[in-house]
Amino acid sequence: MELKDIRCIGVIGAGLMGHGIAQVFASAGYDVHLYDKDKATLDASKGRIEEDFKVFIALGLATKEDVTGCLGRISLSPSIEALCKSSQYVIEAILEDLDLKRKVFAEVERHADAEAIFSSNTSAISITEIATVLKNKERFLGTHFWNPPQVLPCVEVIRGGQTGKAAFETVFALMEKVGKVPVRVLKDVPGFLGNRLQHAMWREAFSLCDRKVASAEDIDKVVKYGFGARMPFIGPMETADLAGLVLTRDIHKYLFPYLDAAKEPAPVLEKLISEGATGVKAGRGFYEWTPEKIERVIRQRDTVLLRILKEIIGGVKGV
Ligand SMILES: NC(=O)c1ccc[n+]([C@@H]2O[C@H](COP(=O)([O-])OP(=O)(O)OC[C@H]3O[C@@H](n4cnc5c(N)ncnc54)[C@H](O)[C@@H]3O)[C@@H](O)[C@H]2O)c1
Repeated sequence: MELKDIRCIGVIGAGLMGHGIAQVFASAGYDVHLYDKDKATLDASKGRIEEDFKVFIALGLATKEDVTGCLGRISLSPSIEALCKSSQYVIEAILEDLDLKRKVFAEVERHADAEAIFSSNTSAISITEIATVLKNKERFLGTHFWNPPQVLPCVEVIRGGQTGKAAFETVFALMEKVGKVPVRVLKDVPGFLGNRLQHAMWREAFSLCDRKVASAEDIDKVVKYGFGARMPFIGPMETADLAGLVLTRDIHKYLFPYLDAAKEPAPVLEKLISEGATGVKAGRGFYEWTPEKIERVIRQRDTVLLRILKEIIGGVKGV
């Protein structure tokens, strides 16, 4: 399957990620078939997309016509079979469960065109392990979008143990075409690139909190107003070059023995969970949350992200 042959994209799972992924492709002009086994979630998906567009419109990154066009290109599918019959590329964004994902892909392969390409939006599950149920493993790969997918440009395109070069490059080109910033993950390692980097930092953040070196608020501040503020412009490799590699090596020599190297989740995390403080849904995690605060933080997050992205890469293409 070449890029030019992809006309319609199937998205399985219309939850947090799936509805946003559908928005990305439909905004870029592709017909999209969206399916969720939960009818209420599927029926709500277009309303969620309309809601997500509000911040784009407020920033002048989309018009009301863009919203109508995007929604008009999305069809809600009654089944995986129906979705596969008309899609040349199928992305799965269901629950993070290996067995469920395998079941879905076995069904997708039964109904899809022999040439169709499939990918999983899994955050961490091995692409190679999901692929074991497929007869043709060459056309299967990982595409890890970041939340919110309609806002964040990066997509990790992951080569599983048996992914063919042709499918890998076709999907990479498709992501570029719809305005994403794809990266090639050449080996199927747990957590791929982004989640390894992100959770290495979270492990240290939770450990500092456990050791009462600083409050959760101050740990967040040092990221938001310290080194994290330059991250939209400059990554760790570039920053190391700017700082100088000798200095970087010397810091690592001194610091690494003191960094957290735990193999288990942090005690603070276990403690909060045991108290029922599981995060925004419970109204409490490291912070207290009200529904108004959650809505405000998410709206402000998306507004700030889109402003920064507009500055760096000229806005999110395809919208
Ligand atoms: N939430 C994130 O920040 C994030 C970021 C990147 C990747 N991911 C990954 O994306 C995937 C989806 O995550 P989410 O946050 O959108 O989850 P979600 O719970 O919001 O949505 C999952 C949807 O899949 C549907 N579903 C479950 N089984 C199904 C089946 N057999 N057929 C069709 N639909 C089915 C559910 O009804 C639900 O609506 C997961 O693999 C997750 O790890 C999540």
